[in-house]
Amino acid sequence: MELSRYAVSEQHWRLSHAVFLTGATGFIGSAIVPELINAGHQVLGLTRSDAGAQSLIAAGAEVHRGDLEDLESLRSGAAKSDGVIHCAFDHDFSRFVANCDKDMRAIEALGAALEGTDRPLVITSGTGMGNAEIGQPATEDVFNPSHPNPRKASESAGASVSAAGVNVSVVRLPQVHDTVKQGLITPLIALTREKGVSAYVGDGLNRWPAAHVLDVARLYRLALEKREPGARYHAVAEEGVTVRDIAEVIGRGLKAPVVAMSPEEAAGHFGWLAMFAGLDFPASSAQTQKRLGWRPTGPGLIADLKQMRYFDA
Ligand SMILES: NC(=O)c1ccc[n+]([C@@H]2O[C@H](COP(=O)([O-])OP(=O)(O)OC[C@H]3O[C@@H](n4cnc5c(N)ncnc54)[C@H](OP(=O)(O)O)[C@@H]3O)[C@@H](O)[C@H]2O)c1
Repeated sequence: MELSRYAVSEQHWRLSHAVFLTGATGFIGSAIVPELINAGHQVLGLTRSDAGAQSLIAAGAEVHRGDLEDLESLRSGAAKSDGVIHCAFDHDFSRFVANCDKDMRAIEALGAALEGTDRPLVITSGTGMGNAEIGQPATEDVFNPSHPNPRKASESAGASVSAAGVNVSVVRLPQVHDTVKQGLITPLIALTREKGVSAYVGDGLNRWPAAHVLDVARLYRLALEKREPGARYHAVAEEGVTVRDIAEVIGRGLKAPVVAMSPEEAAGHFGWLAMFAGLDFPASSAQTQKRLGWRPTGPGLIADLKQMRYFDA
């Protein structure tokens, strides 16, 4: 793989760099691949599978075989690159705490390969990490290392790698959507099919932030190119969509009754989604938009949900 052809001296990092992208075959990663390539970068994409390798080649990327469990594979991918975007995550929520720890080890390994260089490492977190007060939008300047969500491990690992001198920034994600997938709403739709009702908790006015996947991909690229050590960005287009509005679109789409549930009933109905169903976690991207000049333009979450062919299946 060809390394950078241009000296890195600007505040913005542009033109033909080799980017190691973990999660390159995933929902968000597969939107980041063309975003990077169209901006002139080369992509070295991590995957575990032959099918993943084929899809990366078809998208114009190089393939790096490896696994989050194989830290040497992460170190060697990072060592070949001019910068890293880390989007891989094991989404088996029955092992969520263990998978958050796995993400921590992955970030530490990627960081170790970049120590002593100024190559950027962009890691992934959730906007919930920036919530300081209940009901107030999360902001980029807040991180609570005692947050109850075990995913805090990702940002804590980023902070320790940053303390070792690595140029780390964080992209925090909301519900990322297109007309096929929509973050936690995709399993909510499957649950509605299974249970025959589309449910929300209490009055359903709790809010989830959202952004279209193409806007999110552009933000990752801008964050990488900006190379601002310690920066946190919120990929938020909509500060908060109420879960009742989401439940109503799902109910209409699947012709399922829409019902309100008490928190006690919700625990039985939602399974692993119960930890998120009643959460009110709006988020702002005001600082991100100012610092990166990022302007989300994609369709909104409800508009994408209304377009879903999945409902007709
Ligand atoms: N989608 C959302 O709305 C949302 C919201 C908040 C946060 N996030 C975060 O954003 C990131 C990307 O999410 P996504 O929705 O794009 O995920 P996804 O569609 O589930 O894709 C997961 C990716 O991770 C890779 N992966 C999984 N286990 C791995 C392992 N053991 N070793 C190596 N690679 C592995 C997969 O690669 P292969 O199978 O090819 O190996 C795949 O590319 C994750 O950190 C996720 O938690 C997403």
